[in-house]
This record gives sequence, structure tokens and C-alpha cells, in this order.
Amino acid sequence: MAIKRVPTMAGDEAWLVTGYDQVKALLADRRLGRGHPDPDNAPRFTNSVVLGKPHKATAEEENEKHALMRRMLAPEFSAKNMEAMRPRVRQLLNNLLDDLVEQDQPADFHEAVSFPLPVLVICELLGVPAADREEFRGWSEAMSTLNDEQKSMEGFAKLWGYMGELVARKKEEPADDVISRLIGQHPDAREEEVAQLSAGLLFAGHETTVAAIDRAVMLLSLHPGQWRTLRNPDAIPPVVEEVLRHRAPLERRSDDSGMPRYAMADIEVEGTTIPAGDLVLLGIDQANRDERRFPDPAAFLPRVPNPHLSFGHGFRFCVGAPLARVELTETLEALVTRFTTFGLAGDLAALSRRTEQLVGGVVQLPVRWTEA
Ligand code: HEM
Repeated sequence: MAIKRVPTMAGDEAWLVTGYDQVKALLADRRLGRGHPDPDNAPRFTNSVVLGKPHKATAEEENEKHALMRRMLAPEFSAKNMEAMRPRVRQLLNNLLDDLVEQDQPADFHEAVSFPLPVLVICELLGVPAADREEFRGWSEAMSTLNDEQKSMEGFAKLWGYMGELVARKKEEPADDVISRLIGQHPDAREEEVAQLSAGLLFAGHETTVAAIDRAVMLLSLHPGQWRTLRNPDAIPPVVEEVLRHRAPLERRSDDSGMPRYAMADIEVEGTTIPAGDLVLLGIDQANRDERRFPDPAAFLPRVPNPHLSFGHGFRFCVGAPLARVELTETLEALVTRFTTFGLAGDLAALSRRTEQLVGGVVQLPVRWTEA
């Protein structure tokens, strides 16, 4: 059965949908949204600001706001623009790797590369001053803390407040960056809307990518044969797609989890009616493991095509997918170019998971290498 009732992290109840075809169809179904007519009494997925309490909105209000967001962001983060960023991503990555190799082995790859790279890239795109970047780590981590609403709200408030000031400054002194262009091209958008969008981007743009880079290193360490294939640059994109589809054994999210939505109408799924107002979890990870779509789903096996749903599907498809793909392919290419051997130092099972964070991942990723 591809649909069942499950408890959520916040202690409420939700419908979990797991089959590939059903999850894919519902990701693109506009009868499911983020808003709710009665947010205070709506079932919740988490107690975090992120994917926690829904906002009050009708389907029309939500669609209108969402369409504006896509109009503003999609051109900025287009595949063409992100390809143009590739040399800069490579340069930032090489600087980080230069620092990594100065360290004694084993060194922490998470701290040295996976974490800073996406933050540096998104900050540069948005035009966030380098000096302020360290602070984002704390705010963003606080924001995505699960089951500590207070801490999560404080992180969000700090990030939003900072972005508000930054947007106001850029309105006075525009520069060559995404925030300045958003202000310039959408003069009717309110400052706080631009600030909220930018804060969201900064968040969406790094937690997920950090976890994916760490996962790439873990999965490739478990499958050394795949490392060797990466010397052929054409082999890198399929490996990246499989890293995105596959979940490392250390992922914290349970099988009862998924991308949260609210039913804005009664919706029928496989003969079951989901009543309007109910919480629905779209099981992207479970869909990515549906053996009707991915034969031998537990195997880490570059597949072409690889129609995973890790970036979602349809009208909410991840705006940052082209950027995430550039960051991931560049990271793998840099590692196989610079090192003859590279991989996890020690046992995967010994790594500590980030259990407090929504995206999960590891606290540290000790690695060893031999330079080419
Ligand atoms: C490996 C890294 C990433 C993964 C796995 C990922 C995953 C996702 C998923 C599953 C969605 C769809 C959410 C839904 O259906 O409600 C999404 C949306 C989004 N992502 Fe990403 N993302 C990644 C990187 C990024 C980056 C780097 C950015 C920044 C530019 C970004 C910005 C966004 C935005 C703005 C949305 C909202 C799109 C909408 O609602 O229309 N993401 N992402």
C-alpha cells in the first residue's frame, strides 16, 4: 500500500505516501500546498520554523505568491547562469582543498570543505559580505533545529533581521549580485519579501548541499570501485545523480518521513480519501527506493536515466538544482584530480550524526588522502 497514517516528529498525525508514481504525481498536484486555513490547529510535521507551523493562506493566495517567487528566482539560478559560476566554484573549492592538505591526517572534510563551499557560493551569489558568513552557520543551524521551537525561531529572526538590513543597504548601493538585481527588477516587491526570499535561499542553498557532499564522500568510500571510474569526467554526473537518489546508511530521517504538504481539497490516493486540511508527507526517499522504478534500489549504481525525485518534481522543482549539481560535480572532479587516494578514515559506523537537524548528516567526516 502506497499510503498510510503515521505519527510526525511534532507528535501529530499525517498521511504518508510512498510509491514512486504516487509521490511524483502529488509533488506536481496544486491541490496540495504549504498554507492552511487554520494554522494554529493544523497538524504539524516538525516543531521547527522550517517545515513547522503552516502559514495562513488560501490556495489562490499561495499560488500567486509562489508564482512570484519562481519568477524572481528561476532566471537567477538558471542552468546557464550556474554553469557560468563553475570556474568560480572550482576556485573556491581549490582554496578550501589547499587548506585541507595543510592539515594533519585524518582531517575533517565536513568542516574544511562540505560545509564552507555551499555557504561561500550562495553568499557570493547573494552578495553577503564575507565577514558576516561565519554568523550564518549558527543562525541556520539554530533555525533547522528540530523540536526546539524557541531556538529555531531565534535563528530565523536573526537571519531575517540581518537580511532586512542587507536588502535596505543594497537598495541604496546596488552591486552585481542576486539581491541587488531582485530589488532592481522587482521594484514593487516589498523589502521584507526580498529579505525573506534571500534568507530562505541561504538556508535552502546550503544545508541540503552540505549533506549531499558529505554523502558523496561516504558512499564513494564504501564503493572504491566507483572512485576509480571518476577519472573519466563523463562518469561524474551519473555518480552525482546516484548520490542524490541513494541515501547513506547514516541518514537520520525515518521511513515515516517525507516532504510536508496540506491537502487544500479532498484528494483521493489509491482509493483512500485524504480530507482537506490534513497533513500529507510525500515520501521522496521512499519513492527513490521504489524497486518498480529503480531495480536493486539499495545498490549504489550509477544509472542512466536516473529519474530520482530528490529535487522534487513539477512546479516546486528545486530552484537550486543546477547550482547543487555544479557544486557536487566540481567537488568530485577536484578530488579525483588532486588525490590518488581519498576516502573516509575509519569506520562509517563510528561517525556521529547530526540528530538535532532537519537535514541530518554527520557532525564530522574524517578523511585521509594521498596527493597526486
Ligand atoms: C543537493 C542539494 C539540494 C537538494 C537535495 C534540494 C532539494 C529540494 C527539494 C526536494 C525541493 C522541493 C520542495 C517541495 O517540493 O516543496 C527544493 C526546493 C527548493 N530549493 Fe532545493 N535542494 C538542494 C539545493 C538547493 C540550492 C543550492 C538552492 C539555492 C539556490 C535551493 C533552493 C531551493 C528553492 C528556492 C526551492 C523552492 C522551490 C519552490 O517551492 O518552487 N536548493 N529543493
